This record gives sequence, C-alpha cells and structure tokens, in this order.
Amino acid sequence: MTSVSNFQAPCPARYDVALRDHTTFRMGGKVPILLEPRNREELAAAVRRLREDGIPYRMLGGGANILIDDVGLDEAIVLTTGFAFMVRDNEEGTALRLGAGLSIPQFVTKTREMGLTGAECLVGVPGTMGGATVMNAGGRHGWLSSIARRVRYLTPALDEQEDAVTERMFGYRSSMFDACVVLETVVELRRDAQKAVQERIKTILKEKSAAQPLIEPSAGCIFKNPEGQSAGRCIEAAGQKGTRIGDAEVSTKHGNFIVNRGAATFRDVIQLIRQVRERVFEHAGIDLHTEVKIWSREPLDLPAYSAT
Ligand code: EPU
Repeated sequence: MTSVSNFQAPCPARYDVALRDHTTFRMGGKVPILLEPRNREELAAAVRRLREDGIPYRMLGGGANILIDDVGLDEAIVLTTGFAFMVRDNEEGTALRLGAGLSIPQFVTKTREMGLTGAECLVGVPGTMGGATVMNAGGRHGWLSSIARRVRYLTPALDEQEDAVTERMFGYRSSMFDACVVLETVVELRRDAQKAVQERIKTILKEKSAAQPLIEPSAGCIFKNPEGQSAGRCIEAAGQKGTRIGDAEVSTKHGNFIVNRGAATFRDVIQLIRQVRERVFEHAGIDLHTEVKIWSREPLDLPAYSAT
C-alpha cells in the first residue's frame, strides 16, 4: 500500500483539507488528501490509481446528503465538483450530457434559460447531478430517474461503461450506481416556453421554502419516509420539532431536517438522530431509517428497533 504522501495524483490535489466547506451541513473534519479531477479522464484515473495503490477513498459531490465526522477521516476524497460540464446529446438539444460534478441548481437554471422543461423535479435540491443519480433525487414533482436516459459510470471493478437507464436501476432514494462511480448522466427534457418553466420553478420554490428550512445549513432529509408515511409528520407527532442538542436542532419548519445552528458537532447530530428515532419508535412503533450518509471512523450503532 502506497502512503498518501507518496501518491502520484493524476489530477490537482490538496493535502490535509477540512471538509466543512464541502458539505451543506457545514461540518466535517480533515482528510489526508482531496483530489480534484477536472474531466472524465482525470476522474477515472484518480479512482483507478487510488485503487491500485490500496488507498481507501470516497466520492464527494456537493456534500448535500452527508454527515461527516468533525474529527476527520483517514480516506482520500475524490471531489467531483470540478467536472461540471453540460453539452447537447441530440440534434434537437433536448437531451443533455452532464458531468457528475454539475451542481443541481445550475442544471435547473441553465435548462430553464434554454426553454427546457423536466428539471423542475430537482428544484430546491442542493448537490450535484452525480449525487442526484446515485440517490435518485426528487420528490413529489418527479424523480431524477424520470428524466435520466443513460448513465456512464465505472463499475465496481472500475471498468468504464455506459448503459441506457431502465426502471429497475433506480429505487426510492437509491440506485444500482451506489456501488459504482457515476461519470456522466444523460437526461432528456422537453421544449417549453421559458416563462412557463420559470413560473413552475417559482411556485415549487415557494412551496418548498414554506415547508423546508432551505436557507439554513442542513443535510436535507435525515430519514427515508416509511412506507406510506411522512417521516417529518411522525417526528412532529412524537413532539420532536425544535428539540436541540448543542447546536443541532430538529427544524421547527420540517421535522425530517436537522439544522446546524452554528457550531453543531458530529456527536450532537448523531445523538439527536438517535433521540428522534427512539421517540418516534416509542410514540408510533415506527423504525426510521437514515437517508443521509454518515461518514466516520467509528462504527455507529443505529440498531433496528423492530424485530425482523
Ligand atoms: N409534515 C408534517 N410535519 C412536518 C413535515 C411534514 O406534518 O414536520 C407533513 C406535510 O404537511 C405533508 C406531509 O407531511 O402533508 C409530507 O411532507 P412534505 O411534503 O414536506 O414531503 P416529505 O415527504 O416530508 C419528501 C422528500 C423531500 C422532498 C419533498 C417534496 C423524503 C425523505 N423527503 O419530503 O426530499 O423535498 O418530499 O417533494 O423522501 C430530501 O430527501 O432531502 C428531501 C428534502
């Protein structure tokens, strides 16, 4: 195994970097190396070289659905946000090929300006298109899987492959790409009047900002919705809205968000997640499962409550 200090990075790299500014929750300690590929070739080369050298790594996009331990991590991080292109993928200009690091808000804005409709399913969602593909981002206005047509990715064996999207590739907040490295996603949108798209975006944003704490630092929804239910409503019913540990607070707007009131620590947030799960289980017998990814050196004990 090559040590990080001897690692020959095939792209720009920084050493001993804190991840705080790379997450929407504004929390995350240092990692030994942060690789910043600028194109598909550099991204694939970075991942392959890390694998060859036996250096454990994680992929990071917009840091929108992640809680990262503030004491830091031992893994290398491959940051995709420098690989953020968007090009036409058909003659009509309705199919677009997107680099994994393209920010979702940028994608929404640019396609609106181009007079294309379909990106509305991602309005108000932070993060990158790579993350949106892996997590099948979306909600009541639609899902990434409904506009995705092809995905180019590295398989778990790190072979580069491009496949047409099929329904079985995606689930609720999940996809088969979780075990892969997404390089590019091709989406297909439809033509519409710019003004009409703008109006729809405005309405969705208004609705979302009334229901969700969009301007406070958060990691998005903490838990997956249990079958046929809303996690936020369950958390509210268990009296957990507004409860706080340190600077981590269950949003008073939406029960499924934890907001960072300033200096929330990783342990504050994990303790609050445990408390919310416990209270919801006591109150309604519902076992909530986290949607956010939790990155820590410590194995975290979030036991299932229900007997399975
Ligand atoms: N509700 C409450 N109390 C709360 C929160 C919600 O009573 O504290 C009620 C709402 O009034 C509504 C119902 O629960 O009747 C559903 O709430 P909402 O419309 O806010 O949607 P959600 O199911 O909580 C899902 C996604 C969100 C996505 C929205 C809108 C999950 C876990 N969450 O939330 O995604 O933005 O739909 O499409 O699937 C995310 O995953 O990070 C996320 C924010």
